[in-house]
Amino acid sequence: MNIRTFPTPELTAAGAAEAFAQTARAAVRDRGAFRVALSGGSTPKLMYRILRDMPEMPWHAVHIYFSDERSVGADSPDSNYRLAQDELLNHVPVPTAQVHRMAGEVEPLTTAAEAYAALLPAQLDAVLLGMGDDGHTASLFPSTDALQASGRVAANFVPRLDTGRLTFTYAEINAARERWILVTGAGKAGVLRQVQGGEGGYPIAGVQNAIWFVDAAAGAELQQA
Ligand code: 6PG
Repeated sequence: MNIRTFPTPELTAAGAAEAFAQTARAAVRDRGAFRVALSGGSTPKLMYRILRDMPEMPWHAVHIYFSDERSVGADSPDSNYRLAQDELLNHVPVPTAQVHRMAGEVEPLTTAAEAYAALLPAQLDAVLLGMGDDGHTASLFPSTDALQASGRVAANFVPRLDTGRLTFTYAEINAARERWILVTGAGKAGVLRQVQGGEGGYPIAGVQNAIWFVDAAAGAELQQA
Protein backbone atom coordinates (compact mmCIF):
# COMPACT_ATOMS: atom_id res chain seq x y z
CA MET A 1 0.00 0.00 0.00
CA ASN A 2 1.17 3.49 -0.78
CA ILE A 3 0.54 5.16 2.58
CA ARG A 4 1.60 8.69 3.50
CA THR A 5 1.23 9.42 7.20
CA PHE A 6 1.10 12.86 8.79
CA PRO A 7 1.16 13.91 12.45
CA THR A 8 -2.24 15.65 12.52
CA PRO A 9 -5.54 15.76 10.58
CA GLU A 10 -4.62 19.29 9.43
CA LEU A 11 -1.30 18.17 7.97
CA THR A 12 -2.99 15.15 6.39
CA ALA A 13 -5.51 17.44 4.72
CA ALA A 14 -2.70 19.73 3.59
CA GLY A 15 -0.82 16.78 2.08
CA ALA A 16 -3.88 15.65 0.16
CA ALA A 17 -4.65 19.22 -0.93
CA GLU A 18 -1.10 19.55 -2.26
CA ALA A 19 -1.52 16.33 -4.29
CA PHE A 20 -4.84 17.63 -5.61
CA ALA A 21 -3.31 20.96 -6.64
CA GLN A 22 -0.23 19.45 -8.28
CA THR A 23 -2.30 16.92 -10.20
CA ALA A 24 -4.76 19.61 -11.27
CA ARG A 25 -2.01 21.89 -12.57
CA ALA A 26 -0.36 19.05 -14.49
CA ALA A 27 -3.66 17.79 -15.97
CA VAL A 28 -4.64 21.26 -17.17
CA ARG A 29 -1.18 21.85 -18.60
CA ASP A 30 -1.09 18.48 -20.40
CA ARG A 31 -4.73 17.85 -21.31
CA GLY A 32 -6.53 21.17 -20.84
CA ALA A 33 -8.78 20.06 -17.98
CA PHE A 34 -8.76 18.40 -14.54
CA ARG A 35 -11.67 16.04 -13.95
CA VAL A 36 -11.99 14.99 -10.34
CA ALA A 37 -14.60 13.20 -8.25
CA LEU A 38 -15.05 14.37 -4.66
CA SER A 39 -16.22 12.27 -1.74
CA GLY A 40 -18.59 12.88 1.13
CA GLY A 41 -18.37 12.22 4.83
CA SER A 42 -16.80 14.66 7.25
CA THR A 43 -13.11 13.93 6.62
CA PRO A 44 -12.60 16.02 3.43
CA LYS A 45 -13.82 19.26 5.08
CA LEU A 46 -10.36 20.34 6.22
CA MET A 47 -8.89 19.56 2.82
CA TYR A 48 -11.62 21.56 1.06
CA ARG A 49 -10.85 24.56 3.27
CA ILE A 50 -7.14 24.37 2.48
CA LEU A 51 -7.88 24.04 -1.23
CA ARG A 52 -9.72 27.38 -1.24
CA ASP A 53 -6.44 29.20 -0.73
CA MET A 54 -4.16 26.98 -2.79
CA PRO A 55 -2.05 29.15 -5.12
CA GLU A 56 -2.04 28.87 -8.91
CA MET A 57 -5.06 26.61 -9.06
CA PRO A 58 -6.53 26.46 -12.59
CA TRP A 59 -10.13 26.45 -11.28
CA HIS A 60 -11.53 27.60 -14.64
CA ALA A 61 -10.51 24.21 -16.09
CA VAL A 62 -11.56 22.01 -13.15
CA HIS A 63 -14.57 19.73 -13.62
CA ILE A 64 -16.14 18.42 -10.43
CA TYR A 65 -17.92 15.07 -10.08
CA PHE A 66 -18.97 13.05 -7.03
CA SER A 67 -18.07 9.47 -6.16
CA ASP A 68 -21.27 8.96 -4.17
CA GLU A 69 -24.38 10.69 -2.88
CA ARG A 70 -27.04 10.16 -0.26
CA SER A 71 -30.71 9.93 -1.34
CA VAL A 72 -31.41 13.58 -0.57
CA GLY A 73 -31.72 16.84 -2.48
CA ALA A 74 -29.01 19.45 -2.95
CA ASP A 75 -30.10 21.53 0.06
CA SER A 76 -30.00 18.74 2.60
CA PRO A 77 -27.33 18.91 5.31
CA ASP A 78 -26.66 15.24 4.41
CA SER A 79 -25.85 16.05 0.78
CA ASN A 80 -22.26 15.40 -0.28
CA TYR A 81 -22.74 18.02 -3.01
CA ARG A 82 -23.83 20.57 -0.41
CA LEU A 83 -20.77 19.88 1.73
CA ALA A 84 -18.52 20.48 -1.26
CA GLN A 85 -20.45 23.65 -2.16
CA ASP A 86 -20.33 25.07 1.35
CA GLU A 87 -16.73 24.18 2.10
CA LEU A 88 -15.08 24.61 -1.29
CA LEU A 89 -17.01 25.33 -4.47
CA ASN A 90 -18.71 28.53 -3.27
CA HIS A 91 -15.26 29.94 -2.52
CA VAL A 92 -13.41 29.22 -5.78
CA PRO A 93 -14.04 30.24 -9.41
CA VAL A 94 -15.09 26.84 -10.80
CA PRO A 95 -17.72 27.52 -13.49
CA THR A 96 -21.10 26.26 -12.24
CA ALA A 97 -21.64 24.34 -15.49
CA GLN A 98 -18.57 22.28 -14.61
CA VAL A 99 -19.97 21.02 -11.32
CA HIS A 100 -21.87 17.76 -11.80
CA ARG A 101 -24.03 16.71 -8.89
CA MET A 102 -25.60 13.29 -8.45
CA ALA A 103 -29.39 13.72 -8.24
CA GLY A 104 -30.00 11.90 -4.96
CA GLU A 105 -33.61 13.10 -4.75
CA VAL A 106 -34.68 11.30 -7.95
CA GLU A 107 -36.81 8.17 -7.68
CA PRO A 108 -36.07 5.52 -8.54
CA LEU A 109 -32.38 6.05 -7.82
CA THR A 110 -31.52 3.76 -10.73
CA THR A 111 -32.70 6.57 -13.04
CA ALA A 112 -30.29 9.00 -11.40
CA ALA A 113 -27.48 6.42 -11.61
CA GLU A 114 -28.02 5.96 -15.35
CA ALA A 115 -28.17 9.72 -15.93
CA TYR A 116 -24.95 10.25 -14.01
CA ALA A 117 -23.11 7.47 -15.84
CA ALA A 118 -24.09 9.17 -19.09
CA LEU A 119 -22.51 12.48 -18.15
CA LEU A 120 -19.21 11.12 -16.86
CA PRO A 121 -16.14 11.83 -18.99
CA ALA A 122 -14.31 8.94 -20.66
CA GLN A 123 -11.79 8.91 -17.80
CA LEU A 124 -11.54 10.80 -14.55
CA ASP A 125 -8.15 12.19 -13.58
CA ALA A 126 -8.64 11.47 -9.90
CA VAL A 127 -11.14 10.15 -7.39
CA LEU A 128 -11.06 11.32 -3.78
CA LEU A 129 -12.36 8.74 -1.33
CA GLY A 130 -12.86 8.30 2.39
CA MET A 131 -13.21 5.16 4.47
CA GLY A 132 -16.03 4.43 6.90
CA ASP A 133 -15.36 2.60 10.15
CA ASP A 134 -17.03 -0.45 8.58
CA GLY A 135 -14.51 -0.36 5.72
CA HIS A 136 -16.89 1.10 3.14
CA THR A 137 -15.76 3.59 0.57
CA ALA A 138 -17.87 5.84 -1.64
CA SER A 139 -21.23 4.09 -0.97
CA LEU A 140 -19.83 0.62 -1.51
CA PHE A 141 -20.95 -0.82 1.84
CA PRO A 142 -20.22 -4.34 3.14
CA SER A 143 -22.55 -7.02 1.78
CA THR A 144 -24.43 -4.70 -0.60
CA ASP A 145 -25.34 -5.30 -4.22
CA ALA A 146 -23.19 -2.51 -5.64
CA LEU A 147 -20.05 -4.46 -4.76
CA GLN A 148 -20.92 -6.69 -7.72
CA ALA A 149 -22.41 -4.02 -9.96
CA SER A 150 -21.24 -3.60 -13.51
CA GLY A 151 -21.43 -0.23 -15.20
CA ARG A 152 -20.05 3.03 -13.88
CA VAL A 153 -22.60 4.24 -11.32
CA ALA A 154 -24.97 2.17 -9.18
CA ALA A 155 -28.02 2.75 -7.03
CA ASN A 156 -27.24 0.85 -3.86
CA PHE A 157 -29.65 -0.06 -1.08
CA VAL A 158 -27.84 -0.13 2.26
CA PRO A 159 -29.83 -2.25 4.77
CA ARG A 160 -27.77 -1.10 7.76
CA LEU A 161 -28.82 2.51 7.07
CA ASP A 162 -32.20 1.53 5.59
CA THR A 163 -31.60 3.89 2.71
CA GLY A 164 -30.53 4.06 -0.90
CA ARG A 165 -27.28 5.62 -2.08
CA LEU A 166 -25.77 6.49 -5.43
CA THR A 167 -22.21 5.30 -5.85
CA PHE A 168 -19.39 4.82 -8.28
CA THR A 169 -18.71 1.17 -8.94
CA TYR A 170 -15.26 -0.37 -8.51
CA ALA A 171 -14.94 -0.25 -12.29
CA GLU A 172 -15.32 3.52 -12.30
CA ILE A 173 -13.09 4.13 -9.30
CA ASN A 174 -10.33 1.91 -10.62
CA ALA A 175 -10.48 3.31 -14.16
CA ALA A 176 -9.45 6.79 -12.99
CA ARG A 177 -5.87 7.89 -13.42
CA GLU A 178 -5.44 8.29 -9.64
CA ARG A 179 -7.19 7.40 -6.39
CA TRP A 180 -6.67 9.23 -3.10
CA ILE A 181 -8.02 7.90 0.17
CA LEU A 182 -8.16 10.28 3.11
CA VAL A 183 -8.41 8.63 6.54
CA THR A 184 -8.18 10.35 9.91
CA GLY A 185 -9.05 9.52 13.50
CA ALA A 186 -8.42 6.70 15.94
CA GLY A 187 -11.77 5.11 15.09
CA LYS A 188 -10.36 3.96 11.75
CA ALA A 189 -7.06 2.51 13.06
CA GLY A 190 -8.20 -1.09 13.50
CA VAL A 191 -9.84 -1.35 10.09
CA LEU A 192 -6.85 0.26 8.43
CA ARG A 193 -4.50 -2.28 10.04
CA GLN A 194 -6.67 -5.11 8.76
CA VAL A 195 -6.84 -3.65 5.26
CA GLN A 196 -3.05 -3.40 5.25
CA GLY A 197 -2.86 -7.04 6.33
CA GLY A 198 -5.32 -8.16 3.65
CA GLU A 199 -7.86 -9.14 6.31
CA GLY A 200 -11.54 -8.43 6.92
CA GLY A 201 -12.81 -8.45 3.33
CA TYR A 202 -13.66 -4.76 3.56
CA PRO A 203 -15.09 -3.00 0.48
CA ILE A 204 -12.22 -0.52 0.42
CA ALA A 205 -9.83 -3.37 -0.35
CA GLY A 206 -11.27 -3.42 -3.88
CA VAL A 207 -9.79 0.01 -4.62
CA GLN A 208 -6.60 -0.49 -6.59
CA ASN A 209 -3.35 1.49 -6.52
CA ALA A 210 -4.52 4.24 -4.23
CA ILE A 211 -2.45 6.79 -2.41
CA TRP A 212 -3.53 6.84 1.23
CA PHE A 213 -3.32 10.06 3.25
CA VAL A 214 -3.49 9.00 6.88
CA ASP A 215 -3.09 10.86 10.16
CA ALA A 216 -1.10 9.46 13.09
CA ALA A 217 -4.24 8.39 14.97
CA ALA A 218 -5.66 6.37 12.08
CA GLY A 219 -2.22 4.99 11.25
CA ALA A 220 -1.35 4.03 14.83
CA GLU A 221 -1.67 0.28 14.24
CA LEU A 222 -0.02 0.11 10.82
CA GLN A 223 3.03 -2.06 10.29
CA GLN A 224 6.02 -0.11 9.03
CA ALA A 225 6.81 -0.99 5.41
C1 6PG B 1 -20.35 9.32 2.34
C2 6PG B 1 -19.05 8.92 1.80
C3 6PG B 1 -18.32 7.89 2.55
C4 6PG B 1 -17.31 8.54 3.46
C5 6PG B 1 -16.92 7.61 4.58
C6 6PG B 1 -16.06 8.31 5.60
O1 6PG B 1 -21.18 9.74 1.57
O2 6PG B 1 -20.51 9.23 3.56
O3 6PG B 1 -18.62 9.34 0.63
O4 6PG B 1 -17.73 6.90 1.78
O5 6PG B 1 -16.20 8.94 2.75
O6 6PG B 1 -18.09 7.17 5.21
O7 6PG B 1 -16.86 9.24 6.26
P1 6PG B 1 -16.28 10.20 7.35
O8 6PG B 1 -15.30 11.07 6.66
O9 6PG B 1 -17.48 10.98 7.83
O10 6PG B 1 -15.68 9.34 8.40
